[in-house]
Amino acid sequence: MVLNAIINRKSVRSYSEKPVSDGDIKSILEAGIMAPSWVNVQPWQFIVVKNQEHKDILSKAAGGQKQVSSASALICCVADMTAWEADKFSKVMEKQGRDSQTREYILASKMLNPSLLGEYETLLRTVEQMSYSIGYMTLRAEELGIGCCIVGAVSNELTSKEEGSIRSVKEMLGLGEKQILHSILALGYEKAPSAALKSRKNFDEVVSFEKIGNKFQVV
Ligand SMILES: Cc1cc2nc3c(=O)[nH]c(=O)nc-3n(C[C@H](O)[C@H](O)[C@H](O)COP(=O)(O)O)c2cc1C
Repeated sequence: MVLNAIINRKSVRSYSEKPVSDGDIKSILEAGIMAPSWVNVQPWQFIVVKNQEHKDILSKAAGGQKQVSSASALICCVADMTAWEADKFSKVMEKQGRDSQTREYILASKMLNPSLLGEYETLLRTVEQMSYSIGYMTLRAEELGIGCCIVGAVSNELTSKEEGSIRSVKEMLGLGEKQILHSILALGYEKAPSAALKSRKNFDEVVSFEKIGNKFQVV
């Protein structure tokens, strides 16, 4: 049940030697690509990395975070702004069965096609879609008994001015100008398995009824 995965999932940063199988990696990715997205645009690319040298480079790009170099496998989650380009966007809509008139309408609508609003809006919407997909992958990993850690503190065009290192990571991953390494999902079996200790804001701190600050109560 999905609720079990939600409750039991936690960030795992220390892994045993046991490798995560390709079949399980594929299953995690399949959950990710099932995520919903804005007009189904799916502005993401996922790159599986197992090569130790490459994992070390990515760990460095993540400020030396050890779970990146020690993970059995990494899924590099790439925000793919090219997905909004008219031909690609139109293609996914066509695959979904939208007729040409609807496709043209969506492509011309500033409400439905954020790429018409500029780079910032495109980036914002792309990053937004990534979150759903990554969330799904973490839950599938949990369901498979595989530990994972989202690593968002990674050096990219948005977070760093170190152009040289960003370029070399982009080259290593084969990314184009409009493809940004958004985050890394580190995967591995937890070294010393333990229960999830959830530290979250209280329900009433973040949930309201009708107006912010009014308690939501089950009647
Ligand atoms: C977008 C995002 C980026 C994150 N980046 C990092 C990171 O760079 N390094 C890390 O150790 N954890 C990272 N985390 C994990 C959070 O620290 C973690 O989810 C949070 O503390 C709650 O703990 P839990 O996942 O165990 O429930 C990230 C989580 C999210 C959602």
